Amino acid sequence: MKTITTLSDLRAARQLLHGSVGLVPTMGYLHEGHLSLIRRAKMECESVVVSIFVNPSQFGANEDLSKYPRDLKRDLNLMEPLGVDLVWNPTAEIVYPAGYQTWVEVESLTRPLEGAIRPAHFRGVTTIVTKLFNAVQPHKAYFGQKDAQQAAVIQQMIRDLNFPIEMEICPTTREADGLAMSSRNQYLQGADRPAAAILFKALSAAKSAYAGGERNAKNLRNIVQETLATEPRVQVQYVSCADYHTLSELDTVRGKSLLSLAVMVGKTRLIDNVTLE
Ligand code: PAJ
Repeated sequence: MKTITTLSDLRAARQLLHGSVGLVPTMGYLHEGHLSLIRRAKMECESVVVSIFVNPSQFGANEDLSKYPRDLKRDLNLMEPLGVDLVWNPTAEIVYPAGYQTWVEVESLTRPLEGAIRPAHFRGVTTIVTKLFNAVQPHKAYFGQKDAQQAAVIQQMIRDLNFPIEMEICPTTREADGLAMSSRNQYLQGADRPAAAILFKALSAAKSAYAGGERNAKNLRNIVQETLATEPRVQVQYVSCADYHTLSELDTVRGKSLLSLAVMVGKTRLIDNVTLE
């Protein structure tokens, strides 16, 4: 496993990779969710590249860029046994040199949900993912269902910009109590951690109602809201029941849909989702 910083070293090492190349973009501080993406890439591709870059442009001014957890040595130790070929860990100066002024923007899909609360977030994500695609030139790229809107936005960008890349969306890895794994879970202090289990309980309650025949989107959102309301540490930002592909809010659930939420648990912002199909 080679760890690379500069773009020229990355390009040279990329030339030497054999066969199909899978890319797993991450911001590091790896957990089992990231590792599940890497394992899947390893199964499906001859060579695997993982990027680790805490991308400043996707963080808002009041967000957690400076305190985002970082531990490269720990990440490398976790990846070594998985057979990763290259790890690209560029500096912010390499990705965004002085005078940088080019951005990639997906339009309507980035407006609702996360985009409504984090206005510049997806512009940062689509720009860095474009730069990673250009630098690594993978055949396949692996993303998590955990960040469902991010996956939808990147899928749209791949289509719109004609990237010759197949995108794979991998299932959400969860803790034993249902909490979706996230690098941000380590911010959860004391009683906030057990309280955070309510997110998946709320989504699961609505999913059960859906399985029992409930198709009214407002009723499904209410089940999520009411379950979340039983946990006083949780402040709801949004609960959405939307078309899986367009992310437009629904009146009635018909095709594949996305039930998603964003909450604050104490000072920690968490998102989660389940699909209805
Ligand atoms: P990061 O939060 O590090 O996540 C990297 C990838 O891991 C994303 O595709 C994310 O959806 C996936 N992931 C996170 N938690 C997961 C879980 N519990 N189960 C399955 N997959 C999970 O998402 C980003 O970084 C960045 O926005 C990035 C795409 C790297 C661009 O900077």
